Parts: sequence; C-alpha cells; structure tokens
Amino acid sequence: MRIALYGFMGAGKSSLGQALARRLNYRFVDLDAEIVKYTGKSIYKIFNEEGEIAFRKLEHQVLKELIKRDEENLILSLGGGAILQPNNRKLLELKDFLKIYIDVSVPELIRRLKDEKNERPLLAHIDNEFFSGFIEALHNSRKDVYEQHADMKLRIDKEDFETALNRLSLLLNVN
Ligand code: S3P
Repeated sequence: MRIALYGFMGAGKSSLGQALARRLNYRFVDLDAEIVKYTGKSIYKIFNEEGEIAFRKLEHQVLKELIKRDEENLILSLGGGAILQPNNRKLLELKDFLKIYIDVSVPELIRRLKDEKNERPLLAHIDNEFFSGFIEALHNSRKDVYEQHADMKLRIDKEDFETALNRLSLLLNVN
C-alpha cells in the first residue's frame, strides 16, 4: 500500500506519518524534507529567494522523482499546498496512493501554528493581530479541495498525539 497524508500546515502530517510508518513497518518520506535534501536549501530560503511558483515547480519535480520507483509500503507526507496542484494529484492517483486528509479544526491549527510561524514562509510575515484571520481565510480557500480529494479523512480537534495516531491506525485497520 502507498499512503499520502495531506492537510493544512500544522496538521501533524509528518509526525503522524512517521509514527504510522513505524507501526506498519513502512518507509516514511516527508516531501518537504526531500526538497530540502534535493536543493540544499531550506523551504523558507527557497520561498524567499525564488518565490512560491518556483517552489511549486520543485515540489512537483521532487514528488515525481520520488514516486517513479513504484515503491510499495510507503507513507508520504505532503506539504500543505501540494495536493492543491492538479499535476501532483494526478501523480498520486497514477501510482494508486491512498490519500488521507488530516483535517484539524481551525482553532487548533491557530494554536499550533502561532509558535511556529517564523519557520513557515507563508506565515512569517503575518502580524500577530491578523494571524488568526489569515489562517482562517487561507484554510477557507483550501478546505473544499482538501475535502474533495480525500479517500479517507481523519478529523482532529484537540486530541493528543497518541489518540490521533490510534484513530488513524483504526481508520486503516492497523493495530
Ligand atoms: C505549505 C506548507 C509547508 C511547505 C510550504 C508551503 C503550504 O508544509 O510545503 O511552506 O502551502 O501550505 P507543511 O504543511 O508541512 O508546513
């Protein structure tokens, strides 16, 4: 089986993916980490120096490279914008990835992202007073696409990590 975890920034895709991969004995790959490896630059630096369009191109290129090996038993965690690009969705569908949407409530996303905003190129320049509104608006603009392309969905509000992981495992019938 090949699994792709996606959802908004701060949804916990990478940590859940890593832990799930351990349970399933699958290989875990984080797309953003692969982009960093491939370019030798941080995501922040790529956005700042080359802009978002260049980042999206790289994201697609690296995804294509990653999945062309037809590797089985793989869990891939995608950056929050990757699934929005039709060319990325096409690749995932071509390779029969099970697409799981990690759907975290907006208040919880705001809580999590507040402390990490400076590491994220899309958030770092947002003033604190506009932060919640910005997350809400960005989430609103993405949520329909997130919903539409989910083969499965894990809805999370304030659950702790272990509970979320157990629910994700249950969804997949893994104990
Ligand atoms: C992005 C999410 C980030 C990263 C980039 C753009 C987005 O990944 O790919 O900063 O457009 O939502 P995470 O979702 O892992 O933070």
